[in-house]
Amino acid sequence: MESKQMWGTRTGFILAAIGSAIGLGNIWRFPYMAYENGGAAFLIPYFFALITAGIPILILEFYIGHRMRTSVPSAFEKLGKFGWLGWWQIVISFVVSTYYSVIIAWALLYSFFAVTKSWGSQPEDYLMNDFLGITNTETWSSNFLGGFQWHILIALAVVWGLAFIILHGGVRKGIERANKIFMPMLFAIILLILFRSVTLEGAAVGLNALFSPEWGQILNSSTWISAYTQIFFSLGIGLGAMITYASYLPKKSDITNNAFMTALANCGFSLLAGISVFGALGFIAQQKGMPLDEVATGGVILAFSVFPEIINAMPMGNIIGVLFFVSLLFAGISSLVSMAEPFISALGDKFNIKRKHAVNWTLGSTALISILFATGSGLHLLDSIDRSVAVLSLSITGLMMVVMMSWKLRLIPTARHYVNEVSDFSLGRWWSVCLVVLTPLVLGYNAIMTLIGDIQHNYEGYPNSLIYTSWIVAIAILFVALCFHFMKRSEAK
Ligand code: PFF
Repeated sequence: MESKQMWGTRTGFILAAIGSAIGLGNIWRFPYMAYENGGAAFLIPYFFALITAGIPILILEFYIGHRMRTSVPSAFEKLGKFGWLGWWQIVISFVVSTYYSVIIAWALLYSFFAVTKSWGSQPEDYLMNDFLGITNTETWSSNFLGGFQWHILIALAVVWGLAFIILHGGVRKGIERANKIFMPMLFAIILLILFRSVTLEGAAVGLNALFSPEWGQILNSSTWISAYTQIFFSLGIGLGAMITYASYLPKKSDITNNAFMTALANCGFSLLAGISVFGALGFIAQQKGMPLDEVATGGVILAFSVFPEIINAMPMGNIIGVLFFVSLLFAGISSLVSMAEPFISALGDKFNIKRKHAVNWTLGSTALISILFATGSGLHLLDSIDRSVAVLSLSITGLMMVVMMSWKLRLIPTARHYVNEVSDFSLGRWWSVCLVVLTPLVLGYNAIMTLIGDIQHNYEGYPNSLIYTSWIVAIAILFVALCFHFMKRSEAK
């Protein structure tokens, strides 16, 4: 038997949890989501979701990890015979890591491109044609994948190589050490970018657009769904990462305070990123003489097309460019590692294999699958699978976990007592009310509305073939999870 993996210090654990939470989602998803959903008014549903669902579930996950001190499936199995849900969560996390890694690979390449601005004067053309070699969805029948993009494949190998080195180092010498380097650097970089961004000409236009509230949006249910989805993805709840990280805590560890610190650092970072991105968008809108809403965007286009344009137009843009892509890289790798760890821990538990073998199996298989996204159809596949897997499955598995814990097993009072015994400050009754009443209702509504929306209209007008692929993947995930659950456990040798 190997000795149990454990964090070296409390700071190490908090930084690792923050590293898991802060990811691509904070930089490219949050700013645009806030802008699109009512600007400053969006902060109301966002903070409501944080306080009533995000933080309470994070505390619940820290509790499960800390108390059971084992992998997610076996923790769920011991708590109430629902190990299958644990497998479901971590197989989703496994799948998310297969495409999340590819975006990190793009960021790695773009941090080199930024030095010489090698995307030229038309970054969008460069991105779609030269860089991604994107396939045309209308001529798919003849060439579905569209061939490998070799440069992406090489960068992907480097990303997996880095993840491999970190995870092979183990919890303390690998994950903790990496986050102790990445997180302070990430905050320093975002502050530098923010300073440059808000001092650009026209920044005020962007910031006004981001922060001027459109109160009417609060009445829209879709604004609330977006807020909850963002909080879930951002805190990485419902995917096993936080339970796994908390399972490496020593017995005497605080839970509540750690959860608050993780959540607040994550949301603080999102706000910093929002200001940086919208300051820069205001600048480019003014340079081009366009209204802000024509340049404002999120996701891949923001990072790899609009940002290069901003870098082209900005004095000393290449320095900020390198910093921007390096920030995506650091934020991404620390999240990627936390997506792989739950599966590694579960394989080790179930098959009684050494950590290093579990790392090899997990990373070997995720890396192999990820090369599908390094093809000309990579972006299409990524977009549609992300929708069905990350957005929908996440709210369903999160909901199921809360329902199992609070309605079926009625464990919330015991959990509250346990958490209060070990924590710096005590949880009041609000915590139980959030988990037993509020969160299940809102998440249930959220999941049903998202499902209905997706069935009624194809996401982003994608062709049926792609929509079916994404649903097949979602069902396959469940199937694979059940297979793992029913496989016979290897006994210790
Ligand atoms: N929180 C990360 C982001 O915002 O990009 C993504 C993430 C990390 C999701 C870890 C899930 C997870 F387990």
